[in-house]
Order: sequence, then C-alpha cells, then structure tokens
Amino acid sequence: MMKNYPTASEEYLKAIQKSKRKLRGFIAEKNCAPLMLRLAWHSAGTYDQSNKNGGPFGTMRFKAEQGHDANNGIDIGIGLLDPIKEQFPVLSYADFYQLAGVVAVEITGGPEVPFHPGRVDKDEPPKEGRLPDATKGSDHLRDIFVKQMGLSEQDIVALSGAHTLGRCHKERSGFDGAWTANPLIFDNSYFKELLSGEREGLLQLPSDKALLSDPVFRPYVDKYAVDEDAFFADYAVAHQKLSELGFADA
Ligand code: HEM
Repeated sequence: MMKNYPTASEEYLKAIQKSKRKLRGFIAEKNCAPLMLRLAWHSAGTYDQSNKNGGPFGTMRFKAEQGHDANNGIDIGIGLLDPIKEQFPVLSYADFYQLAGVVAVEITGGPEVPFHPGRVDKDEPPKEGRLPDATKGSDHLRDIFVKQMGLSEQDIVALSGAHTLGRCHKERSGFDGAWTANPLIFDNSYFKELLSGEREGLLQLPSDKALLSDPVFRPYVDKYAVDEDAFFADYAVAHQKLSELGFADA
C-alpha cells in the first residue's frame, strides 16, 4: 500500500536519532534484543484491517494490554525501556517501541529495517486474542496475518524467521527453549534448523512446523535456508510493513 508519511519536526527527528543511539547501547548491554523484538511485534500484530483497530500505536504501555495471555513477560521489556523513554518525552510510545524492534534486529546482525516516525499514541488497548496461537497451523496463521493484519503469505514465512532470536520461557508461554544455537544473532539459522528437524536442546513450535508442511510456505523456507540475502531482503520489507500497519495509509 502507498504510504503517506507525516512530516516530523526537526526536534522530533533529533530525538529519534538520539534515542536510537541510546537503544543500541542499552539493548546490547542488557542482551535483550529478543524481548525488544517480541515487544514491537506484539504491539503491531494486533492490527485488524477490518475495523482499523489495534496496531503499533503505543497501547502496550497500558497494564491491561501487558496482561493479555499472549503478552506474558512483555512487562519486563516495558520496564527496561521506561527509563530511556523518560529521557525522550517528545517521542510517542508508538514510535519508541517500533524503534526498539528495528534496533534489536540491527544490532544482532540482521538487516536494516527502514523506520518512519510519526505514529500517534492511542488510548485504548485492542481486544485480547488477536495474536497467533503457537499450537495452531497454517490456516490459523493465514487468518491472523493475511485476513486480520493484511500481510502476505511470504511475510508470514519471512517474519517467522525472527525466531532466529530468543527463546521460549516456560513461565511465560509454557514452551521452553530456543530455536537456534545462537539466539542473540540474527541470521537464517532458524530456517536451517527447521529443515534439519528436531534437535536435542532446541525447539520448534507447531506454528513453526506448519511452515514445512504447507505447500505455499515451504518454498520460502527452502529459499531462506540457503540464501540469507534473500531472507534479509524479504524480512526487512515484512518487518517494515508490520511496524506500519494502520500508519500513514494514503
Ligand atoms: C507466526 C506466529 C508466531 C507465533 C505463534 C509465535 C509464538 C511465540 C512464542 C510462544 C514465543 C515464546 C515466548 C516466551 O515464552 O518468552 C515467542 C517468542 C518470540 N517471538 Fe514469536 N511467534 C510468532 C511470530 C513472531 C513474529 C512475527 C516475530 C517478530 C517479527 C516474533 C518474534 C519473537 C521473538 C524475538 C521471540 C523471543 C522472545 C524472547 O526471547 O524473550 N514471533 N514467539
């Protein structure tokens, strides 16, 4: 979709640049890139194109949304970010959380995801139940990503590659373990692991395995496993789309 980005003031752009530098240092120091990426994604992934409700508009700052089942542990990420956000009162939470997601990918070795400022904070958290359920398969992924959010099938596979970072925590999601052997490095190892099958100490969710068995998803998995450049290019496009759902629509 064509975007019509708002023009940000000089002061605002300066605050974006400065907070971006702070975020780089902070996220590297705390090794919290995976949680920052999950926070940005869970903020944006609630977008419902049918009623233009939800999406990356800062509502994750509210305890009500942090309390959604799917968001277990996100409050830890918010708590980490708060002291930095306080230094930049001019920024919207909406922009700040999405910036943290972009920086998380960048500093772990992933692609540069273009960032456009100007999201305005909303005051009403979305309804619960808009984020994907890890126990379900391809139909469910299409319902959430394609029908609800308005993303593509290619975006589903590319974005799933974000599980190259981080891990599941028993006390947060009920699942336990990392997808790859290097969960603080953003690369294409998620797809390589997916194709090589279950391995001692690593994990694959049912929603990850669905990418293997689905005839539309599978060719992307095969491609991204052998061609990291193709993965990075498609991931950057998909992440930018995710971070701009409902924002700057022309
Ligand atoms: C395709 C549907 C998806 C499902 C069902 C899903 C499910 C999950 C689950 C169950 C966890 C574990 C949470 C925990 O216990 O801490 C997780 C973690 C994570 N997810 Fe996803 N996810 C999906 C898509 C995505 C997308 C699109 C992104 C980003 C673009 C993403 C990024 C992450 C990251 C970075 C973590 C690690 C968090 C950490 O280490 O603290 N996921 N996901």
